Amino acid sequence: MTRVLFVAPDGSEREAMAEDGHSLMETALRHGIDAISADCGGGCSCATCHVLVDPVWVDRLAPMNETESLMLEFVEDRQDNSRLSCQIELHPLLEGLRVILPSGGG
Ligand code: FES
Repeated sequence: MTRVLFVAPDGSEREAMAEDGHSLMETALRHGIDAISADCGGGCSCATCHVLVDPVWVDRLAPMNETESLMLEFVEDRQDNSRLSCQIELHPLLEGLRVILPSGGG
């Protein structure tokens, strides 16, 4: 299990325990994080699982592939630390991963 933190736009934090090998998006859904709707079910084709990765963690994640980068172009408030949570696979080295939920939802 890997502990991750979801930070709402108002600064409140929710801790979630993730099954190793599950995606950050799956973990969000299992814990009722409403800001992530994940309309495509993790197929990297909707961008409604957008999160902002805490800058401390950005370089510790596996780099995004071209498909993820293209999908992020559809995100209105894309930032340098934007990622699609369905493309982030969780494992023990990511213990304590912290992501910020966009104010407009996915
Ligand atoms: S769930 Fe659709 S792109 Fe991540």
